[in-house]
Amino acid sequence: MNVLITGANRGIGLGFVKHHLEHGHDVWACYRTTADSLSALGCEKLHLLQWDVGLDDDPEGELPASIDLLINNAGIYGPGKDGQSLHKVTSEAMLNVFNIDCIGPLRVVQKLADRVINAKGVIANISSKMGSSDDNSSGGTYAYRAAKAGLVIVSRSMAMDLAPYGVHVITLHPGWVATDMTGNNGLIDIDTSVTGMSSVINRARNFHQGQFVAFDGKIVPY
Ligand SMILES: NC(=O)c1ccc[n+]([C@@H]2O[C@H](COP(=O)([O-])OP(=O)(O)OC[C@H]3O[C@@H](n4cnc5c(N)ncnc54)[C@H](OP(=O)(O)O)[C@@H]3O)[C@@H](O)[C@H]2O)c1
Repeated sequence: MNVLITGANRGIGLGFVKHHLEHGHDVWACYRTTADSLSALGCEKLHLLQWDVGLDDDPEGELPASIDLLINNAGIYGPGKDGQSLHKVTSEAMLNVFNIDCIGPLRVVQKLADRVINAKGVIANISSKMGSSDDNSSGGTYAYRAAKAGLVIVSRSMAMDLAPYGVHVITLHPGWVATDMTGNNGLIDIDTSVTGMSSVINRARNFHQGQFVAFDGKIVPY
């Protein structure tokens, strides 16, 4: 099985890499700047690709002809909570986070759709409950919420467009996970999140096309 993961050098992405290598899969791990943590894994089934999903450039490295599972994981939070408040969030911050968290996965799929179609594979787009309008009872965090909400919509359109080709697309919420993004605060660790999301991915076709699902298999209303 060929798996491609963006933002794979740390956090949840690196957790996905380890999970799939442990299951004997071939993994194409994409990194933006540094691959040290990936090279240290020293596995022959691991293939490295340099890919900044915020740019239109092609990835550097050799892509597989077919991709069974594409995990769009790369993302940024943007400025801290205060910097995303009603009076402080800037247009630049809004556009920067949108470029990476919403347009990034779209760029990746534009470049890789044919390869996922070759495998009649699955695409998992990592959004966040922060992008759920239904779940938003505390306000603020304008840039991250808007970008992740946009990704839910983009993911649903991808799902509709690729369904006729046998590709299944789902949108995932990893839980609140202790990583660099959360300052290592969280309710769950990376292993719990990755194991849970992988279980959802394994039964992706039991969920509706484009459905928004949390790591514990619960549907996220949005
Ligand atoms: N942690 C949580 O509680 C939580 C909750 C909901 C959703 N999520 C989502 O889960 C995903 C992973 O989050 P995480 O907690 O693992 O975050 P993280 O620890 O901050 O890791 C983010 C990863 O994305 C990569 N990345 C950032 N900008 C990129 C770009 N322009 N091109 C390519 N890669 C880029 C980073 O690479 P560099 O090392 O090069 O910066 C890093 O590998 C994100 O989409 C995040 O929004 C996380």
